[in-house]
Amino acid sequence: MDAQRVAVYGLGRVGMPLAAAWLKAGFNVVGYDVNERLIRDLCSLRFEWIDEPGVASIFREASQRGKLSFTVDGKRASSSSNIHIVAVPTPMDWGSKKFVSEPLLSSLNTIGSGLKKGDVVILESSVPPGTTCGVVKRRLEELSGLAADTDFYLGFSPERILVGRALEDLLKRYPKIVGGVGPQSTKIISDLYSRVVEKGVIVVRDSTTAEVVKLFEGVYRDVNIALANELALYSQSVGVDYYEVREAANSQPYSHLHLPGPGVGGMCIPVYPYFVLEFGVAKGFESKLILLARQINESMPHVVVNMLMREVLSHSLDTRTLRVTVLGASFRGNVSDTRNSPTHMVVSELKRLE
Ligand SMILES: NC(=O)c1ccc[n+]([C@@H]2O[C@H](COP(=O)([O-])OP(=O)(O)OC[C@H]3O[C@@H](n4cnc5c(N)ncnc54)[C@H](O)[C@@H]3O)[C@@H](O)[C@H]2O)c1
Repeated sequence: MDAQRVAVYGLGRVGMPLAAAWLKAGFNVVGYDVNERLIRDLCSLRFEWIDEPGVASIFREASQRGKLSFTVDGKRASSSSNIHIVAVPTPMDWGSKKFVSEPLLSSLNTIGSGLKKGDVVILESSVPPGTTCGVVKRRLEELSGLAADTDFYLGFSPERILVGRALEDLLKRYPKIVGGVGPQSTKIISDLYSRVVEKGVIVVRDSTTAEVVKLFEGVYRDVNIALANELALYSQSVGVDYYEVREAANSQPYSHLHLPGPGVGGMCIPVYPYFVLEFGVAKGFESKLILLARQINESMPHVVVNMLMREVLSHSLDTRTLRVTVLGASFRGNVSDTRNSPTHMVVSELKRLE
């Protein structure tokens, strides 16, 4: 086995740029994914799946130099590597608002099938607090018969990228947060990451703290977007122009009023508040503000449709013959990702009016 070979589990919007970042730092990388078509294409140097600037060119060059390979054989990826990076999806079930752990558990089974003494496992998928030192540690120890922080090293390092400029964010824009399940893990993972990212590493107390850092970043955005939405609706009701107020107010350095919008989408910000809420409840803390912010943002598609309907009625238009064009399907400007986009809700509300 090559020294310091990295296996990335899950080659999506996070896993691909991560693989590119480790390649850029000089490591050999194997990419593993359950999507056979994706792996077949990547093996044939067909990189149409990648829409992050800079990633395809790094992949092409590294593949040609034999430093990058792709596989659907998880055991092979695990046993031929000594650094394992988890970037699989960690979605939430929107009915129960509970974390869906299957992809994560399945990736742990894959890693566990080849885990060796001295290996390093870094979880980068966003997870509910306590996951790394709880289910992840337990599962890997059971599967390998090895002890975390003694025989192998385990920690959490959140991905802080913005889709569309992921590689730049990873390599240059932000420090990497690292928290291990023990002191050895923290040291080894932070040493590794200081070789990969320009902005260095912020070491936090433990893996749960690192998990919470990522989730609080999302909660901060969610609450502030909810505030902007509330103030915009307030402004409309009292007859002032929110945009004018915002611009004037933000000329003062302590005011960072966001833009209002039809809601919050993507796989991260709408989901993380629920991870935080559930953990709080389990520990006896009930948050009011986080839940309220979610409720405000989740009501926004409905608010948008109501605004439209008011206009329709005020112009005496006939909804039965009206044709609506919705511009913008992705959850944010300049990205192709439509997952959890509020546009879906706006469209389904409009269809109900037919
Ligand atoms: N997209 C973002 O902007 C962003 C930012 C920060 C953190 N995150 C977090 O990163 C994680 C990954 O997100 P993403 O956007 O890259 O997801 P994604 O859906 O784009 O990609 C996930 C990939 O994992 C693969 N996969 C699923 N189950 C697998 C398994 N058991 N083993 C191996 N591969 C498997 C899928 O086929 C897919 O290719 C999530 O936890 C997400 O919350 C995402």
